[in-house]
Parts: sequence; structure tokens; C-alpha cells
Amino acid sequence: MLNKKTVDDINVKGKRVLVRCDFNVPLDDGKITDDTRIVASLPTIRKLLDDGGKVILCSHLGRPKGNPVPEMSLAPVAERLSELLGQKVVFAADDEVVGKNAKAAAEALKDGEAMLIENTRYRAEETKNGEEFSKELASLCDIYVNDAFGTAHRAHCSNVGVTEYVDTCVVGYLMKKEIDFLGNAVDNPERPFVAILGGSKISGKIDVIDRLLDKVDTLLIGGAMTYTFVKAQGGSIGSSLCEDDYLDYAKKMIQKAHDNNVNMMLPVDDVIADAFDNNATKDTAEAGKTPDGWMALDIGPKTAALYADAVKDAKTVVWNGPMGAFEMDNFADGTRAVAQALADCDAITIIGGGDSAAAVNQMGFSDKMTHISTGGGASLEFLEGKELPGVAAADDL
Ligand code: 3PG
Repeated sequence: MLNKKTVDDINVKGKRVLVRCDFNVPLDDGKITDDTRIVASLPTIRKLLDDGGKVILCSHLGRPKGNPVPEMSLAPVAERLSELLGQKVVFAADDEVVGKNAKAAAEALKDGEAMLIENTRYRAEETKNGEEFSKELASLCDIYVNDAFGTAHRAHCSNVGVTEYVDTCVVGYLMKKEIDFLGNAVDNPERPFVAILGGSKISGKIDVIDRLLDKVDTLLIGGAMTYTFVKAQGGSIGSSLCEDDYLDYAKKMIQKAHDNNVNMMLPVDDVIADAFDNNATKDTAEAGKTPDGWMALDIGPKTAALYADAVKDAKTVVWNGPMGAFEMDNFADGTRAVAQALADCDAITIIGGGDSAAAVNQMGFSDKMTHISTGGGASLEFLEGKELPGVAAADDL
């Protein structure tokens, strides 16, 4: 359970409250194409406004590398927030982020009003957790709230440095919800506990595979990282993705699963293609029998059925990483089948952010899941058992 003070432990009436959100949302030609992260921040913002706080919102967007890049301005977010909250969220356009405009807007704010300052990454110090920018951010407020779970694995000015210079620093409802769901699932799971790991690289999932093998009853492997396991066991993978440096690690994990009595399942068949292209010629092949000149791009139908069956009686399921190249429709069936199995089962279902969250949303299953994390990298690091700097920096209970 999260042992940090939250917005329920503070009195914000008449106070300036700086709220760090993760408004790092996808934009296409200045239009927000997925506002999930904005919607997820509303409970905290509403609570602070209802309690009479003067709410100053901040976030990064993209990676402008310390420059005021207009395409990465948070202006469209202020507009969307105004619509969602049903009240004006003033946007303080300011290349300095905490410059003349932002300070004046913060000064003019009345109780129950909200404003948004510009992309914190317009300032080069932000990602270096620099002292000066941290102090500038702190100077805007009396109280600091961190609700940016998606950024909690970073130690930057706006989510860590600033807390050095503000007396009261608490977390918001989204942060608490994320930590409670992910933490409970891993540390206190209702069993059977099934984890599903996919994605392209073992190297990015080393610590999470290792840790989950100490926790789960069943581990289902999919995505391109499968083929490193298959090659490690002597199978033929054609030109499928493979990380040769991780063959020994893959063997070790198979042994660890055996030693820990974890039912670790690898695909029994694959959808293979003659090119990495949605319109490539495709076929199915038994796992470990991908011919030369072909690559595996999805789990096969037999595997999808076996994985759905493995999930059926689970009480807790954690899923991180797609089962195949789901962004190409012809190789999305495995990911869709797993999403459907999770939607159909009675378990607590928790989807790590990033690609698996995108897949679940895109395929229309989001309403059927217990919790979809708003953090990609952050949820992965949390599942790895790492301390998240953005969480650690808040006041203890
Ligand atoms: C994310 O989208 O994962 C977070 O907003 C963090 O963004 P970053 O990877 O650019 O730090």
C-alpha cells in the first residue's frame, strides 16, 4: 500500500497548489489524438478546485530538449482541460515556463481557478533535475501535488527537484490508484496469478521477467522476445527478431521457472511472414520451425487458444507488451485474442501502459479491464520492483 500523503491529507483553501500531471499525450497536427492521460488527471484537479485551491498545472510533452518547440506546446491541453472541467483553464504561454507571463497568471489566480504553465521540458534544466528551475517552480506555490504516474520513473525538476523547496508535497488520486493497483497485484495477488509479457526485446524486460518468476503461478510469453527463447532452446527462427546476447539469460529464466514451479508458457505456433509488412505473404508454423527467409510476427492460433485457456481461471492477470506486431492489422490476432480472454475472465486485470494499453484501447476492450496504467516506462519499472523517484519524493504518511 502507498505510504505517502495524498490530496486527502491537505487543506488547500486559498492556497496556490502546483500539480504535476503527465499530459504527455499524442498530438497530430496540433490535435490531441488520445486524451486518456488528461481524463485520468481530472479527479485530483476537481478535488483541488472544489476545495478552493488556486490550481497551477504543469507537465512535460514530448522531448523538446530544452528548446521552446511550438509543436510541443501544452496549449491544446489547456483547451481540452477547459472542455472537460467545464471551466476555463488559463494557459500561461511562456518560453521560460516560469517567466513573466506564468508568474502574473499565477498571481491573478482566484480560489477555485486553474491555469496551466508551458511544457516543462522547454527548459534544459528540467531533465537534469537542476536547482534553479526547481526553485522557480517551487516559487509558484504553497503546496505541491504529484499526480504524474507516467513520469514517476524520471527524476526531473518538476517531479523531484521542486519537492526540495516546498514544505508540503503529496501525491494525487491517479498516482495513488496506480501504485495501489500495480502494487497489490504483484505483492498481494489473488491466485492463480498469471502474468503475460510481450514486446520486442528481452533486454528491456530482464528485471521484470526475473521478478515476476518469484511471484506468479503462470507466465505467458509472446511478442518478438519469444524468438530469443526459441533460439536458446535450439529452434529455428528464420529472420525473426532475436537478441543473441540474451540467449544464456533466456535459458536461465526457463530454468528459474522450472525451479520455482512456475508454469512458463512459450508459443507452440507462430504467424510467419516473408517480410515485415502488413501485406506480406503470411502462414502459420510450428514454434521453432520458421523457415529461412521468413519471420514470426505474431503468436499462432493454437497458442492464442492455449493462452486464453491459461487466463480463464486466473484471479489476477498482469499484462505488459503485445503478442505480435499488432500495429499491422494482419498480425494483430494474437494480441486481440489475449485482450478478449482478459475481457472475458473474472480476474482482476491490470494492463501495463504503453503498447499494451494502446492495443487494448484501440481494440475496444478498455471498459472491460480492471485497471489500465497510464504509465509505460513507469509501470514497467514499478513491476521490476524499483523505487520510483517521483513517488519517493512525496511526504511520507
Ligand atoms: C511517458 O510517456 O512514458 C512519460 O510521459 C515519460 O516520457 P519520457 O519517456 O519522454 O520521459
